[in-house]
Amino acid sequence: MEIRNVGVVGFGLMGSGIVQVAAQSGFKVTVSEVNEDALAKGQKKIAQALKIAVRKGKMEQDAADATLANIHGVTDLAELKDSDIVIEAATENPELKRTIFRTLDETVGDHAILASNTSSLPIIEMAAVTNRPDRFLGMHFFNPVPLMKLLELVRAETTSDETLATARAFGEKLGKDVIVAKDLSGFVVNRLLVPYILDAVRLLESGVATAEDIDTGMRLGCGHPMGPLTLLDFVGLDTTLSICEIMFEEFKDAKYAAPPLLKRLVAAGYYGKKSGRGIYDYSSGA
Ligand SMILES: NC(=O)c1ccc[n+]([C@@H]2O[C@H](COP(=O)([O-])OP(=O)(O)OC[C@H]3O[C@@H](n4cnc5c(N)ncnc54)[C@H](O)[C@@H]3O)[C@@H](O)[C@H]2O)c1
Repeated sequence: MEIRNVGVVGFGLMGSGIVQVAAQSGFKVTVSEVNEDALAKGQKKIAQALKIAVRKGKMEQDAADATLANIHGVTDLAELKDSDIVIEAATENPELKRTIFRTLDETVGDHAILASNTSSLPIIEMAAVTNRPDRFLGMHFFNPVPLMKLLELVRAETTSDETLATARAFGEKLGKDVIVAKDLSGFVVNRLLVPYILDAVRLLESGVATAEDIDTGMRLGCGHPMGPLTLLDFVGLDTTLSICEIMFEEFKDAKYAAPPLLKRLVAAGYYGKKSGRGIYDYSSGA
């Protein structure tokens, strides 16, 4: 099946990246959000990213204009009806996602593929609320989507070979390198990454070192491009908390248990870079 029209649900951190990459790759993209403000925020983020790319000589002005022209924002899921594939990148909340997929299943054509960008929820539990569990899979992108080459495809028990092949070809058209994982919470990357980030928070919590020194240690000691606590601020503390709680629920293993400090920072509204403060304070623009 050839994909022409792409739908995206959620225009936040991940949704805006997915929309940008798909629009840049020449697809017509319709993105749905909860209100006009959220749509405007996503549009602005992409416009700024493209402006920087043009300024740095990485993109022609024509290509930037064409990318923006490929994006259409809506506040009603019904307007995703012409999509050949819909990638859901809404808030990591299982009931919300199931509600979205019930609606999408009734909205889009029979041929259309539904995909979730969830980091931790079982794909099968979303596939099962639709009448197309064979045309359903996980498409897990990485932040920031325009820069990160990896796409993890997650095959539920019900995902057909054809759906997987179509999603792989689509991912490659977006310029991604594709890996395939089974539908077990965390897939490949988060299964390894989340315990590592949580351990860094535990280290900070127990006073072993400052946040800066933990990050410097892993950057210079292990050659990581950024330390675990900076990475946590990029991913979002709220998102990471939801992910580790879901992984803990799945495996009942203490390595996925949320450290008290992470819970308290999220309760304080310190969600990371996106809210201006997480482990670090970004309010001065530094
Ligand atoms: N943050 C990451 O690094 C990362 C990486 C890979 C996958 N993910 C996954 O991507 C998804 C989104 O995460 P995010 O970090 O972009 O979160 P985010 O909070 O930045 O964005 C979520 C967006 O979804 C919107 N939304 C909520 N309900 C909606 C609805 N009914 N219809 C349309 N839009 C709706 C919200 O208004 C918000 O703008 C989650 O499932 C998360 O697990 C996140």
